[in-house]
Amino acid sequence: MNQADGGSPYRIDILTIFPGYFADFCAEGVGRIAIEKGLLDFNVSDIRDFTRDAHRTVDDYPFGGGPGMVMKPEPVSLAIAKAMTEAPKDTRLVILTPRGKVFDQTLASDLSRAKRLVLVCGHYEGLDERIHEIATDDISIGDYVLSGGEPAAAVVADAVTRLLPGVLGDAASLLEESFEDGLLEYPQYTRPQIFNERAVPDVLLSGNHGKISRWRRDQAIIATARRRPDLLRRANLTKEETQLAERLLHDYEKERRRDKD
Ligand code: ADE
Repeated sequence: MNQADGGSPYRIDILTIFPGYFADFCAEGVGRIAIEKGLLDFNVSDIRDFTRDAHRTVDDYPFGGGPGMVMKPEPVSLAIAKAMTEAPKDTRLVILTPRGKVFDQTLASDLSRAKRLVLVCGHYEGLDERIHEIATDDISIGDYVLSGGEPAAAVVADAVTRLLPGVLGDAASLLEESFEDGLLEYPQYTRPQIFNERAVPDVLLSGNHGKISRWRRDQAIIATARRRPDLLRRANLTKEETQLAERLLHDYEKERRRDKD
């Protein structure tokens, strides 16, 4: 149940030492739309507000030595307890960390089906392991190291919010379907018909919707074969499309080998 069908809005809590980072999420784009429509209850808590010393200390040296600092468990744990007050059973308590499971559309849609999401932004060399033990998910947004979990939390909040029923129109769900087929998007064009001496493909001006759909699907397969062959191997394709995909993958592989030599 959510606001779209008469229930309470989806709730996201962000726990961070940089609360100002999330001001734009509420003020612009999909975050603003969802909040204004009453479909999203978005809360940001400053982890330093849960410290008890004059310096508002959130980090400490690692046991066992080594470089960097570790986020202390007590302030984070108190911030989590507050965010989890009266939390529904299916609440997801997520830590953003480069050690996590890599975020993708399936995980975004899985998170969007819960009622509440608590996103904990790590910093320094990470959080005390005893915080990871109480989380439901450790999530990474890719194989690179950010200075903190805030950009990753913003990515997850955006990807989940746009999936909440009623937030975006049909365009979003259609885009969703194409991604769920395991293919990248086909190329899009708008006016003017000629730009930088490059014309829009004739088929898109033909008015023949069957031909347009076929062209778009082929273009999606071509883009996926060139850029993300890993996705193509798992994509939902007909027999003819599988043959096209295999031909493309074979040709691109040859091209890559030639480029290397
Ligand atoms: N914190 C630092 N790097 C990160 C990443 N790649 N994903 C999620 N959180 C992070």
